[in-house]
Amino acid sequence: MDYKTHFPLDRFQKLETPFYYYDLELLTRTLDAVAQKANSYGYRIHYALKANANGRILKLMVDRNFGADCVSGYEIKRALESGFPSEGIVFAGVGKADWEIQLGLEADIASFNCESVQELRVINQIAREMGKKAPISLRINPHIDARTHHYITTGIEENKFGINPWEWEAVVETLGETENLEFKGLHFHIGSQITDKEVFKGLCARINEIVQWFTHRQLTPVIINAGGGLGIDYTDPDGPIPDFEAYFDIFRRHLDLRGGQELHFEPGRALVAQCGTLISKVLYIKDGVNTQFAILDAGMTELIRPALYQAYHSIQNLTSSLPPRKYDIVGPICESSDCFGKAVELPGTQRGDLIAIRTAGAYGETMSSGYNLREKVNTWYSDEI
Ligand code: LLP
Repeated sequence: MDYKTHFPLDRFQKLETPFYYYDLELLTRTLDAVAQKANSYGYRIHYALKANANGRILKLMVDRNFGADCVSGYEIKRALESGFPSEGIVFAGVGKADWEIQLGLEADIASFNCESVQELRVINQIAREMGKKAPISLRINPHIDARTHHYITTGIEENKFGINPWEWEAVVETLGETENLEFKGLHFHIGSQITDKEVFKGLCARINEIVQWFTHRQLTPVIINAGGGLGIDYTDPDGPIPDFEAYFDIFRRHLDLRGGQELHFEPGRALVAQCGTLISKVLYIKDGVNTQFAILDAGMTELIRPALYQAYHSIQNLTSSLPPRKYDIVGPICESSDCFGKAVELPGTQRGDLIAIRTAGAYGETMSSGYNLREKVNTWYSDEI
């Protein structure tokens, strides 16, 4: 794909920084690509709202008939307000509060992706009180190492997520006894930013075994939900969009679907990361021991990924063409971890220069915080400026 995000610098100069800038043309291209490939395979997409829940972005998902993967009652409310039909909403999470379960039941969402025997019993009880039958998928821990950052791997044994094999018998028994639950399917999500395709092949093999295990016990899943996790290339912000064809093809070749079974996916990052950029201004340049600090007006409050996961984001100076030198790029927050990158080579950088922190559309704005009593970061879309 030869497409490059264009930054309208004359407009940017007049806007208050920091802000997130979303390239809607790139987003549209990405969503059209994933929709077209998923439709051609007959797979269903539930967009993971946690990656980015802005109304404009959600609308584009709704327009393409994607469902919504929610992990809180607040996300369910946002999904409903944004026009996702309730039969396209699934609700995951290890700690569903009673009000969130009630909300999901009231709205008649498509599935509660359950994480423990105790949760099954609580949902059954609340559903009984409300005179409802709760659609249930079991979130299974398949014990697969996603080979990604340990904070975002979820499918190994010591993880809090998913139901472990030693609990499966108890789950089957519970589903036999609970009249207000309706078994729909099996759910798997093993982690995020997975770039090694072999991991997904391994996941398919495990899913095949696990589907068999449950089918032998008279629990035949109609829905198999393979979660999200497709990784992207943070080193090449203007590079091609993720290869959805190759991703879906792994599942087509390695997953045994029986007649009537549906395959669902819950991508977040792969859909929205590339279209978002955090735009910031340089406040000060300060001498350090080995390097200079470029102190920005954006910090870990706007984008926490580098501080929290040592995540790499490409950093560009949009306004300087001076000879390059190295900078530690830091924010204004009172924490030493408030650093976007160390020894980053940039054109000679001065107070007032515009800095772009790229590939920040996923888990950027949604993870922003009010630490140091900072206000919510602004948002601009490419068709507004
Ligand atoms: N489904 C479930 C059940 C999930 O927990 C997640 C992400 C997704 C789908 C979407 O995964 P994706 O396609 O975006 O990889 N804050 C971290 C990422 C946390 C991911 C949490 N779960 C980051 O900034 O890298």
